[in-house]
Amino acid sequence: MKGGRIDDNIDKHVAILAFPFGTHAPPLVSLVRRIAAESPTVTFSFFSTEKSNAGLFFGTAIQLFIQAMPENFKNAIDVAVTETGKNITCLVTDAFYWFGADLAEEMNAKWVPLWTAGAHSLLTHVFTDLIREKLGDNRENDVKNVDFLPGFPELEVSDLPEGVIDDINGPFATMLHKMGLALPRATAVPINSFASIHTVIESKLEAKFKLLLNVGPFILTTPQRMVPDEHGCLPWLNKYENHSVVYISFGSTITPPPHELAALAESLEECGYPFIWAFKGNPEEKLPSGFAERTKTNGKIVAWAPQIDILKHSSVGVCFTHSGWNSVLDCIVGGVPMISRPFFGDQRLNARMLDSVWHIGVGVDNGVLTKESTMKALKLTMSSETGNIMRQKIAKLKEAALQAVERNGSSSTNFNTLIKIITT
Ligand SMILES: *[C@@H]1O[C@H](CO)[C@@H](O)[C@H](O)[C@H]1NC(C)=O
Ligand SMILES: *[C@@H]1O[C@H](CO)[C@@H](O)[C@H](O)[C@H]1NC(C)=O
Ligand SMILES: *[C@@H]1O[C@H](CO)[C@@H](O)[C@H](O)[C@H]1NC(C)=O
Repeated sequence: MKGGRIDDNIDKHVAILAFPFGTHAPPLVSLVRRIAAESPTVTFSFFSTEKSNAGLFFGTAIQLFIQAMPENFKNAIDVAVTETGKNITCLVTDAFYWFGADLAEEMNAKWVPLWTAGAHSLLTHVFTDLIREKLGDNRENDVKNVDFLPGFPELEVSDLPEGVIDDINGPFATMLHKMGLALPRATAVPINSFASIHTVIESKLEAKFKLLLNVGPFILTTPQRMVPDEHGCLPWLNKYENHSVVYISFGSTITPPPHELAALAESLEECGYPFIWAFKGNPEEKLPSGFAERTKTNGKIVAWAPQIDILKHSSVGVCFTHSGWNSVLDCIVGGVPMISRPFFGDQRLNARMLDSVWHIGVGVDNGVLTKESTMKALKLTMSSETGNIMRQKIAKLKEAALQAVERNGSSSTNFNTLIKIITT
């Protein structure tokens, strides 16, 4: 540690509370790994269920978990304090854990909730009351635009995450609402993003929070798991010209419905662009009969792909994505524009930002993959001047991300601030 003797923080005890669903835990784990590596004398206690439930997000398990969690965590923390003989000095949690504000206060500890996504989605949770008040019953009166949030032109009601204005009494909606109200009490709110990507929204959040810290993209600032290239995607890409290949991945938790998979397959076949498809499940069962065989010369369907390395490869021209935040950051760092087919959570908001604010992505008509809408989006991004302009714009964002993580860049400086807050 800079600025003190190595045993200065020997009495520090950091409790980590991860949210074990979807893709939430890995960013928190990688954040803590880096901090732990730089602070060997600090005690870290990690609290989570035995295994992450990657496939679940809205099921019964998650609802039971949400209802039981404040008490469960409190009891587990008490045990850890007794075992180590060290009181908790900082509580690092997934931002979802609104109760961290009270828990930390009771323990006289700092609270550092990590928001694993972008500032724009956080905005909708911090301003949920305002959104509900403004839209009110108007929703039934066909109000489509949400034009009162800063930095978010063209935002539509249907882009909002579940629980902001519909089904507002469900456990998930309640959790997010309470989160938005509690975050201003946090010592600092780190987010997996970088400054300058959305300055207007950031300043709105900065005014609400004690400290907002852009410490991402995590793929550049924290240790990442190595993904081996088991199926030889990278040598395969070497055969192709710049920006000529379509990469398709809907993330680790989503499979589009069968008719959309079929529409996408037919569009790829008809357009003839080479493609790599990171496919969940059995392609023989889920894709049109004979598709893999007919496209095998210029198509590669793999169960698992080294996504970041693929996106960094100059042959890749566009990425088909569910627009999950981690994938959006992967594409920005790779400099690859996106075609969005969002499903839930912040994905529709991300897609809206890509399309109407950053101009580095397009959606498909009505948000559904039909053969017509998919071919249109493919041709626009792969074979038109619009695609090239998107590539230029995303190259600029990529440059900003790389600058942020340089030694004196904003994310690096913020990371040092964060480490100091958590460990001293
Ligand atoms: C832990 O905190 C309690 C009160 O919250 C205090 O009485 C106790 O002395 C503290 N223990 C240590 C080791 O600091
Ligand atoms: C392809 O991209 C690479 C890396 O960006 C670049 O060095 C090379 O000049 C490009 N090739 C052509 C033919 O444009
Ligand atoms: C970083 O900033 C400090 C102080 O502003 C300066 O002294 C140092 O030379 C900078 N380092 C780099 C690598 O730019």
